[in-house]
Amino acid sequence: MVSRVIPVDPFDLVIFGGTGDLARRKILPALYRRFCAGQIEADVQITGAARREMDADGYRAFVAEAIASAEMAEGRRPDTASQAEFLKMLDYVTIDALGEAGWDRLSAGTRNERIRAYYFSVAPRFFGPLAERLHLYGLADASARIVVEKPFGRDLASARDLNRVLAGYFNECQIYRIDHYLGKETVQNLMAIRFGNMLFEPLWNSQYVDHIQITVAEEHGVGGRGDYYDRAGAMRDMMQNHLMQLLCLIAMEPPAKFDPDAVRDEKLKVIRALDPLGAGDVVRGQYRAAEGRPGYHEEVENPDSTTESFVALKARISNWRWAGTPFYLRTGKRLRERASEIAVVFKDAPHSIFGDDAGRHRNILTIKLQPNEGIELGVTIKEPGPGGMRLIDVPLDMTFAEALGPQDADFPDAYERLIMDVIRGNQTLFMRGDEVEAAWAWTDAAIRGWEERGEPPLTYETGSSGPQEALTLMLRDGRRWREIKA
Ligand code: NDP
Ligand code: BG6
Repeated sequence: MVSRVIPVDPFDLVIFGGTGDLARRKILPALYRRFCAGQIEADVQITGAARREMDADGYRAFVAEAIASAEMAEGRRPDTASQAEFLKMLDYVTIDALGEAGWDRLSAGTRNERIRAYYFSVAPRFFGPLAERLHLYGLADASARIVVEKPFGRDLASARDLNRVLAGYFNECQIYRIDHYLGKETVQNLMAIRFGNMLFEPLWNSQYVDHIQITVAEEHGVGGRGDYYDRAGAMRDMMQNHLMQLLCLIAMEPPAKFDPDAVRDEKLKVIRALDPLGAGDVVRGQYRAAEGRPGYHEEVENPDSTTESFVALKARISNWRWAGTPFYLRTGKRLRERASEIAVVFKDAPHSIFGDDAGRHRNILTIKLQPNEGIELGVTIKEPGPGGMRLIDVPLDMTFAEALGPQDADFPDAYERLIMDVIRGNQTLFMRGDEVEAAWAWTDAAIRGWEERGEPPLTYETGSSGPQEALTLMLRDGRRWREIKA
């Protein structure tokens, strides 16, 4: 099987924050990969824009280094010829998002007839001013679209403000709010598995599903982003966006078609059907130092911080499909392993013809998001051999790398797909303004709850599965988390 690459239309892209960490690690290497795949043609202009004084050659050297380290991290060697061709497409403008410096030059080099994307890879306080300046310099026309990085606000009020500011200069169909989880291969596979197969959908409801667990576990800590993270925490950084998006894709009704508004309408209905979280529905944690590795306080250099690096919660969706089926979600840093999955745990068979000795057996459909993408269906079979009828659970395992072959299982990074979707004008994998606001409304209430109660986070050991109380969250319902395992 060989995946097809359809070239996108010619475009120009300006990356505000083109010298920053995200541009260096993700955006520029993603563009290079798409160029190598033949999806971007040579007549494209990619302009880095930031305050640092640099000429186009200086930027090309910066990008060459970025590509080399990204390719090496993936175990690949950059191809010298294609890299040289790619670098020819680059330019750089010294610009200030808050001042007038550089804007005339950017404007003069603009090819108005082109599809033009402006990527806001800068701190959120610059999103509004950038949109305003694009408008003032005549660049916010119908050919323009903006890509807005996360975080999109830090609560409902700030997200609404930002939506209002952006809407002053751009139509909703020109605004691409990034949630890179939506660009991950397996996350899209969620929709393929659900809506491309007859097998699962009839069982996809509270009559057959006991509960659903979503885990996004990270092994690393806050790294170099301590300043941002300490003001955000796991609820704002991961739960409000990535995990809620996964929840929506798992729980939504089938959209009439795979089109941006049809999909986003269904996701929005899920968020709006979520019950408010009660005090006993949320567990927050913060990692402590262990085995020579720093604790959260040391990493963010704030000994008094009460920000959570872990959150687990029990969500309920009040609609016909899901009433009575809880959704348990957890995410955290410095956990046992980097392992993310969604597990759909089906109910017990209504009656066991094998008697009590056969034990309790359940079918579990596991969608593994990372690091080893695939799906696994746990089925119950007879234990081989003579003797009595003893039952065991075995996985029907489909690791995509094995099923598809190494070439097709070399999935593009989420940013590769998302940037190409921006150029294609496809917003299906981007969050709509009302969706972001609804997600904030739900998480805000929980955050307000623990702030009013003055509850500090519990601590957990680095390399563990999080605080013990997170286990209790499920145990008290007679359920347990699956092991965090890659
Ligand atoms: P960095 O701090 O590494 O980079 C910021 C960039 O903005 C630099 O290029 C900087 O260059 C530029 N910049 C700063 N001030 C101005 C200004 N006044 N005018 C124009 N450019 C300016 O940030 P990141 O790359 O880490 O993050 C960028 C965005 O992406 C943020 O919104 C972040 O939340 C988001 N994000 C980042 C992730 C990551 O892993 N890094 C992951 C997910 C989201 P200069 O100082 O020369 O102007
Ligand atoms: C980012 C968060 O959005 O996602 C980070 O800000 C987190 O804190 C990252 O580490 C996780 O992304 P991935 O793709 O590595 O699972």
